[in-house]
Amino acid sequence: MSAPRLVRHDTVDSTNERAFAALAAGTARDGDVHTARAQTAGRGARGRAWASAPGEGLYASVVLLPDPPAPPPAALTMAAGLAVQDLLHALGLAGARLKWPNDVLVGQRKLAGILIESRGFDPRRPAFVCGIGLNALQQTFTPEVEARGATSLAREGVALAPEAALDRLLPHLAARLAEARERPADLCAAFAAAAGLLEGPVRVLRGEVELRGRITAFGLDGLALETGAELVRIPLEHATGVSPV
Ligand code: BTN
Repeated sequence: MSAPRLVRHDTVDSTNERAFAALAAGTARDGDVHTARAQTAGRGARGRAWASAPGEGLYASVVLLPDPPAPPPAALTMAAGLAVQDLLHALGLAGARLKWPNDVLVGQRKLAGILIESRGFDPRRPAFVCGIGLNALQQTFTPEVEARGATSLAREGVALAPEAALDRLLPHLAARLAEARERPADLCAAFAAAAGLLEGPVRVLRGEVELRGRITAFGLDGLALETGAELVRIPLEHATGVSPV
């Protein structure tokens, strides 16, 4: 990721959408960061909406134009999640952890999420948008978001405005993206530790199928799950959920 160039929006549909618009217009550069005060159509993973109340959360989308060969999207999701966890640890939230693939949790509650997207992907000129949503100043959420289990920096006792959170996040993001490029095995080891994947039994969702066992290897080429009956190899893009039991 190059030195970040900030593009500040007020109210937009989605900062990911604004980043894609800049890519389509040919004005986007690697490292551009689109932020907004509010989103009217903030997107979450699995087709969900991302609650984006004005001024309360960090809504940021980073344009990534890596040299080919393109990194797998899972590497970018892990790098961004680890960068957010690094920030939370630096803010004193020692219990911040990750949940495969894109959740950043404190305790059982979600504080941030990652959404990596690409469009019209050309392997000769890879382009991704790395969306990061981080709850900062929220004291309350809608009943629906509350029911899913949400938290914010403020609720965890940390007073930090969204713009300040972004300033502090970007160096961690640059470092983790460099790690993804230069030392992917270290990145995967850090993710596995942050998500508690190697400590004991786990539950893996492969599409709709649930498997249980112990992970014996976790890398960009997939994970190996010892179920007791067999050793199953699962590409990361097929693992829709992985969590300790
Ligand atoms: C998730 O569901 O965990 C992913 C949430 C990603 C939300 C962020 S907010 C900034 C960017 N713009 C979007 O529309 N989504 C991402």
